[in-house]
Amino acid sequence: MLVLLLTVIVTCQNEKKYKDDEKKIKLISFDDPHSYSNPQKIRITHMDLDLKIDWKAHILSGKVTLNLDKYAGADTLILDTRQLIISGVSNTNNDSLTYWLGKTDAVFGQPLYIVLGKKDHRIIINYQTQPNCPALQWLNAEQTHDKTDEFLYSQSQAILARTWVPCQDAPAVKFTYTAKITTKPGYLALMSATNPQKIKADGVYTFEMEQPISSYLLALSSGKISFKALGKNCGIYAEPGMLDKAAWEFAEMQKMIDEASKLYGTYMWNRYDVLVLPPSFPFGGMENPRLTFATPTVITSDRSQVSLIAHELAHSWSGNFVTNATWNDFWLNEGFTNYFEQRIMEKVYGKPYDQMRQVLAWNDLEKTIAEMKQDGLMADTKLKLNLQGRDPDDGLSDIAYDKGRFFLCHLEKIVGKTQWDHFLNSYFKSHAFGFMDTEGFIAYLNQELLDKNSKWKKEANISEWIYGEGLPKSAIKPVSSELNKVDKILNAYFSGTLKTESLDTSGFTTHHWQYLIRQFGLKANLSQLTEWDKVFKFSDRSNAELCCDWYALSVRLKFTQNRPQIETFLNSVGRRKFLMPIYSELAKSSEGKKWANAVFLNAKKGYHSVSVNSVSGLLN
Ligand code: BES
Ligand code: ZN
Repeated sequence: MLVLLLTVIVTCQNEKKYKDDEKKIKLISFDDPHSYSNPQKIRITHMDLDLKIDWKAHILSGKVTLNLDKYAGADTLILDTRQLIISGVSNTNNDSLTYWLGKTDAVFGQPLYIVLGKKDHRIIINYQTQPNCPALQWLNAEQTHDKTDEFLYSQSQAILARTWVPCQDAPAVKFTYTAKITTKPGYLALMSATNPQKIKADGVYTFEMEQPISSYLLALSSGKISFKALGKNCGIYAEPGMLDKAAWEFAEMQKMIDEASKLYGTYMWNRYDVLVLPPSFPFGGMENPRLTFATPTVITSDRSQVSLIAHELAHSWSGNFVTNATWNDFWLNEGFTNYFEQRIMEKVYGKPYDQMRQVLAWNDLEKTIAEMKQDGLMADTKLKLNLQGRDPDDGLSDIAYDKGRFFLCHLEKIVGKTQWDHFLNSYFKSHAFGFMDTEGFIAYLNQELLDKNSKWKKEANISEWIYGEGLPKSAIKPVSSELNKVDKILNAYFSGTLKTESLDTSGFTTHHWQYLIRQFGLKANLSQLTEWDKVFKFSDRSNAELCCDWYALSVRLKFTQNRPQIETFLNSVGRRKFLMPIYSELAKSSEGKKWANAVFLNAKKGYHSVSVNSVSGLLN
């Protein structure tokens, strides 16, 4: 009887445990097309990293300890890895666990299979990265701003976290983490976590991220970095020689945080700091929680690119807080963030300022769609992407960012700002620290908003926006009276009423100039460009946004006198957004391509792997 009773009790308990686990694991019931991992069965909930930075060999080595939630009966954990050297896996009793690596894919890497014992809920993986680790860039002193010390930084989005930490590299898997990082004495180390503000003599730092985050938000940087506070909860990290300039440029950070919190709820990540990286950083910014990574190309001494901070800050809600379930739903991260960025910018800098940015973005979006049409890529102009089997980087275009943003503007217009903001507030609140796919968003939108009003529902035209190609007719084209002034000047010029010298550009901001160059480029010929270069000295400007537009146009119109400046630019900046338009114009002629290849051969030594891959794809 007793045995029978015990058996029944144990079975019931098992049953209960099974049910509890099932509840937890149900959270992830779909396959992520870009991950080998199996979070439907076993899921990482917490990670302890212990890594040493080897500045000579350019490797990280040490271990990661993973806490696991298991679905009853599941015994094989599958992790994502790429180019990692695994030296052993054990449980907390120090028993070695059986593991093996699967077949290698150039983009997705290799699955790491680990056989767990029944009681194994915490495992230790000893490993190291390789010197050519795709996420990490090791810079020598020459490649930094101050040119005195080496520098290291990571870029994990979209699927590069697996190249420096074995993990479930799927955005829907969220975990907390701690880390111990040992770097060179005298250097600072920073992560997407609680961060030190002062250099420690021994070079050993500890970190904690107590809110759950996705693997693509794991981040690390180290070098001779200093800190300056900007507000009560925010500040700047940069190389010492860059610190004051960066602090001036981003002085309005606290105001942005306050405005953002007023719009969509309390800032949930404690501090918000920005790390200004050396110029090779392949992106404008990366929303690593608590510590945005930013390109120095936004330090322009006129605060004209501070929308980048608004953007990365906005990700603290859209992206880091409520995360796209897979990279097919990327617009839920970037479209929402671009919309939110717009709202912050409007609040801090006023409507006329933001309307200029909207018009610039709209024109870019139309151009992108036209180009994608030409390249037979119209399927990728849908908001909901299908990136199965492809590098999620393929989804990185104006579509997610600006078609996404204008879709949300369209919804805002239909339901009115008050209702819309109310909806967004509850959207963020009710999905806090979770994830969302496009279909889930549509269901929530219908249920909370559109089903309440049949006129709204009809006008919203959701399926055309999300599953249709290109821009729907219902999209509202933004206008800017500031930029209309620029149009007038251009008309006067092209109709011959005004000569270049007499064009009135007084009071022009970077956005006016940018618009001027782009619209000029639609009609100009080589002799007009040559004249404008003499008068406006565009080839010698220091603002990277203007340089990029002007250089790409110069190449297109076969103006070659500024090739030395273009070469310097391509050698000093690694931000992909600036490299691609210039290299791709060059690649269109055989002379240009030859020249581009020669420049790239040298310049690529200073680029992050993300940029190297994109540029070589283009030149091949
Ligand atoms: N999260 C992105 C950068 C990213 C996207 C990296 C996909 C890797 C894969 C970041 O928030 C971003 O959008 N950066 C922009 C900044 C801009 C829109 C202000 C960039 O880098 O240009
Ligand atoms: Zn973004």
